[in-house]
Amino acid sequence: MSGQDIEQHGLEAWRLATRSGEYVVGLAPERRGLVLLHWGEAGQAAGEARLPRRSTSFEDPLDLLPLEATALGTRSVHSAELVVRRADGLRGARLELDGEVVLDEGHLICPLADPLIGLQVELHLRTRPQHEVVEKWTVLRNTGETDLELLRAWGGAFEVPGGQGATVDLLHGAWSREYGQAQVQLGAGTLSIGSRQGITSHTYAPVMTVRGGRDPQLAHSAALGWSGSWRMSADAPPFTGRIRIAGGPDDESGVLTLGPGESLSTPVLAGLQVRGDADAVAQEWHRYQRSLSRSTGPEHRPVVCNSWYATGFDVEVDHQLRLAQAAADIGAEVFVVDDGWFRGRTSDRAGLGDWEVDSQKFPRGLEELIHGVQARGMRFGLWVEPEAVNPDSDLYRAHPEWVHQVRGRPLRTLRNQYMLDLGRPEVEDWATDMLRGLLSRYDITYLKWDMNRSIEDGGQSAPGGDDWSWRHTRAYYRILEMIRREFPQVTVEGCAGGGGRIDHEVLARTDVVWPSDETGPRDRLAVQHGFLGAFPSWVMSSWVTDEPDVLDRDPASLEFRFAVAMAGVLGIGADLLGWDEAALGRARELVELYKQARATVFEGTVHRHGDPAGEFCAVQYTGEEAVFVLAYRRPGGPEPVELPLKGEAGRSMPPVPIRWRWGDCDAVLLPRSA
Ligand code: GLA
Repeated sequence: MSGQDIEQHGLEAWRLATRSGEYVVGLAPERRGLVLLHWGEAGQAAGEARLPRRSTSFEDPLDLLPLEATALGTRSVHSAELVVRRADGLRGARLELDGEVVLDEGHLICPLADPLIGLQVELHLRTRPQHEVVEKWTVLRNTGETDLELLRAWGGAFEVPGGQGATVDLLHGAWSREYGQAQVQLGAGTLSIGSRQGITSHTYAPVMTVRGGRDPQLAHSAALGWSGSWRMSADAPPFTGRIRIAGGPDDESGVLTLGPGESLSTPVLAGLQVRGDADAVAQEWHRYQRSLSRSTGPEHRPVVCNSWYATGFDVEVDHQLRLAQAAADIGAEVFVVDDGWFRGRTSDRAGLGDWEVDSQKFPRGLEELIHGVQARGMRFGLWVEPEAVNPDSDLYRAHPEWVHQVRGRPLRTLRNQYMLDLGRPEVEDWATDMLRGLLSRYDITYLKWDMNRSIEDGGQSAPGGDDWSWRHTRAYYRILEMIRREFPQVTVEGCAGGGGRIDHEVLARTDVVWPSDETGPRDRLAVQHGFLGAFPSWVMSSWVTDEPDVLDRDPASLEFRFAVAMAGVLGIGADLLGWDEAALGRARELVELYKQARATVFEGTVHRHGDPAGEFCAVQYTGEEAVFVLAYRRPGGPEPVELPLKGEAGRSMPPVPIRWRWGDCDAVLLPRSA
């Protein structure tokens, strides 16, 4: 083994300011990319960053450095974010600086290239003084004359302190069981999570948080903004003492190809560092997510009454109007007709794809319901699932070739449906025109966009079809962008059979999301507790529904149901026509209380107390003007308690009495000065 000194390159450092510190990078040896020099307090000398002095013949110096983004071929022992292969089989890229690094107002661009294989890699880093997050992505460009296959096209990595005590927090689950919390010890090895389903998936949220490294108080979290098949890894190579978090489009189920002259921009990997506990991490994510949402106030998060659990597919105009009347009476602000309104949709076996109003259910047109809803002082909303088709539909009969399918492999239905290959331009055009048509013709100001199965066997959209999820997802984004551009009055609720497609790019293009089909309040509480660890309250759609619930069969009072749903964007999914006067009157009071509290819910800082699986838990929102606490206990749980409020650093807050005025839950709205 021979040793080799590593020169201290990077005397030139670029400093990107975050809300409370800075992220400092410098040039790697041989100008082979950027290295993280310092992440934390501003004004530290960049030269203090410890670069390895020696390596061995079994490790390249670059394998020991916290490179911002690198390629197989630039370093080859430890993991790399970019794996590229030319059509003639030449593999790997030896990246080297190819121009000037430019830093302008928190946006750094570092041009790298490998002329041999014909690849330019423009590495982007961006920070803002409003939040702690560093965003990373790369723009990849084929400068050669042959196709380049991107076997892995991830935009960058965050290399954070690890070591024997380090753990990685994950959010995981399944349909109706989303956002469970897990903690994995990662002293060595690679932890990989992701989705091969063409959606973000119920299985994992694209977020990894490392805690308990060298400085146990310091937490690092990274989140991927990508709504198709994806993968994230936390790699802890032995002896580096660090964990490298990276992610991007799934490299197992897909390959992207860049033709000569073509380029693409990888999904953004966002990362943050914060001193504190899981709530401190959550608060920093929420702060960043304020910059993704077009608004965070009630204008795009009205109190919804949604027909689904009340009427299922049994949609009928007079009945919907009666439901709308009851909803208006308790204070709902928008009435949304869920599934079942369109031609042939009497069950989940038929009709998907035929997006015309069913003339039997609405003999005088949808306008009758829309006007009736508006006359009752509410907005009108509609459910759609534009990416899906039932075999029993006119759309499928006309275009069987539009569905995702691996050539020659028989199709399989899930929930009696196939998925349309949105990545085909003609399918994207059809979906765009269909939605544009609905939103132009009818006075719709709320749209719930659903997606109800995972995509298996994606693959017709290109020869070989390996980029099906990439194309599908980009088309999905373009259509959402069209809605926002052409119909800004429309609130969009993102849904995929519950929380199957929630990530930063969805947050940037929708107003609210539906975290789970599970509305049973005890289970929902656990879902929401996990959800709030990575995503914010102002997008967290949550409904009060009737018993029995989907999976959670424990009885729960009306108040308990409200107390859970009030922690986010309150909605009513119950059959209000089955409620007696007392229940309706109570609901009216609770909706009114929620309207007083919701500014605090949307704008406040969240703190979570206790554990939904335990005897007691609570959610605390601390706004400028008020504090709102929603507390919950198991039957037989603690007697009245003084809940010590959690304050922002350096600010003490008086405890709040929890008297269980509503049985096993309580809601306390206090002015901030109290
Ligand atoms: C999904 C959604 C539900 C409802 C149904 C309709 O399951 O998550 O809220 O819209 O589809 O089919």
